[in-house]
Amino acid sequence: MLLRTEHISKQFNGIYALKDINFELLPGEIHGLVGENGAGKSTLIKILTGVYRLDEGQVYWEDQKVSITNPVESREIGINVIHQDRILIPAFNGVENAYLGMEYIVSGGKIDWKTMEKNVAEKAESLGIEIDLKKTAAQLSPPQKTCLEIIRAMMKDCKLLILDEPTASLTDKEAEILFSIIGKLKEKGNSILYVTHRMDEIFRLTDRITIFKNGAMVETVNTCDVTKDELVKKMTDQWSSQAIEHRDSFGDVIFEAKNIASRDGIVKEGNLTARRGEILGVFGLGGSGRTELLECIYGYRPMVSGTVSVEGKTIAKPSPRNSLKNGMVLICEDRRGKAMIGNLSIQNNILLSNIDDYAKGGVLDEKRETKDAADKVETLQIKIAGLKQRAIELSGGNQQKVVFAKALMSRPKVFLCDEPTQAVDVKTRSEIHRLLREEADDGSAVIFVSSDLKEILEVADNIQIVSRGRTKELLKNEGLTSDQVLAYCYE
Ligand SMILES: Nc1ncnc2c1ncn2[C@@H]1O[C@H](COP(=O)(O)OP(=O)(O)OP(=O)(O)O)[C@@H](O)[C@H]1O
Ligand SMILES: [Mg+2]
Repeated sequence: MLLRTEHISKQFNGIYALKDINFELLPGEIHGLVGENGAGKSTLIKILTGVYRLDEGQVYWEDQKVSITNPVESREIGINVIHQDRILIPAFNGVENAYLGMEYIVSGGKIDWKTMEKNVAEKAESLGIEIDLKKTAAQLSPPQKTCLEIIRAMMKDCKLLILDEPTASLTDKEAEILFSIIGKLKEKGNSILYVTHRMDEIFRLTDRITIFKNGAMVETVNTCDVTKDELVKKMTDQWSSQAIEHRDSFGDVIFEAKNIASRDGIVKEGNLTARRGEILGVFGLGGSGRTELLECIYGYRPMVSGTVSVEGKTIAKPSPRNSLKNGMVLICEDRRGKAMIGNLSIQNNILLSNIDDYAKGGVLDEKRETKDAADKVETLQIKIAGLKQRAIELSGGNQQKVVFAKALMSRPKVFLCDEPTQAVDVKTRSEIHRLLREEADDGSAVIFVSSDLKEILEVADNIQIVSRGRTKELLKNEGLTSDQVLAYCYE
């Protein structure tokens, strides 16, 4: 046995996040870990990597008792990790970040940056990752950050690589790089512990799967012995997914973006039109500029040309504030960076953009605040200890739900979403799809960007192709296959 946990438990504020976990990992296996948001997956990983101390129980590594009290110790015994909440230091460049937690190379009493840079560059190349190591982490896009995390995790040899939601914002191409790294590690006899909500990845990659539910371990199964439906049943309480209905007749045009071009040249020409009742999927390959296009529209990213109008009214000076005022809201890809304030309470995060509505003569109507926030928590089944809990303490998927709740609060006419279901479990994913359909049916327009083509095909009424910074074909989502959509993306 490579790794075994015996009766381990962990509590936060008197509530069990993990209870009595007896988990086993074999040498050379790819082991999937699944469960709903808040089930305890990341907590287990943080215990194994010395981020959290366990309250009860014992960890065995290669059949020896070990106590892992900090991340360095975990690394030393041979565990490398990519955490769900990426831990790069924003002001550090690629080399500095890759060397986080490792000893710097020193020669002649000085830090030998040259050799360090060479080492990191070589590692990146051997992994097939292209990235500018001179840029600070703050300057990287979410997928580039993940690539840097992969380099960082692979700087040292390991026996176990732990990946917590590694593909959450990766495009297919980058995900393939990751899968090939996983394949190579397995060939060498290493083990991998893989956490994801994406069922296709679980079935494609893993040998065995362990299911967590409400902090407890349900069981470990051989991947070849279960079907997707059976697995989902084991994770969730009674629930059956319902496909959302597509529409083919819509109201009047409510949203128009014309000739959008970004100052940095990434978006060259973006044109989007959406009508009341429509869910418009926007799809393009990684690097096509789909995220950047949304950021221009919302006023995050400087433009050199372009106009955006909502209900026929052109937004004079595009900025997030003006967008919001004009009935547009954006759920962005980078949850931690832009969408949430970790140290604020869950309630304040949900009400963040609408706080004015709750102030009468300068006094906040706390009762109504609490009620409205509690309503959203209920609708989205956000797993929290209380509304006053800090948002940072929530599991990754539950943080994403808070971001979604905040967007719903502003009752938008135009809902721009970029990867709105990243990191959320299968159940919430279809709940979010359903809520978006409701918003559209109520007369809003939804613009839906996802790196997951299957998801776009599930939810979108129409699909706008983006390629190399330009909007191209507009496809009606009727009988379309992923191959057909992809064919438009490769020019
Ligand atoms: N630092 C913390 N303080 C308080 N509670 C915490 C903390 N970390 C985790 N929890 C709680 O522990 C529980 C399990 O969280 P965990 O992050 O392990 O879930 P998860 O299975 O990884 O979920 P997800 O799929 O959403 O990432 C949650 O209820 C969470 O709110
Ligand atoms: Mg997690």
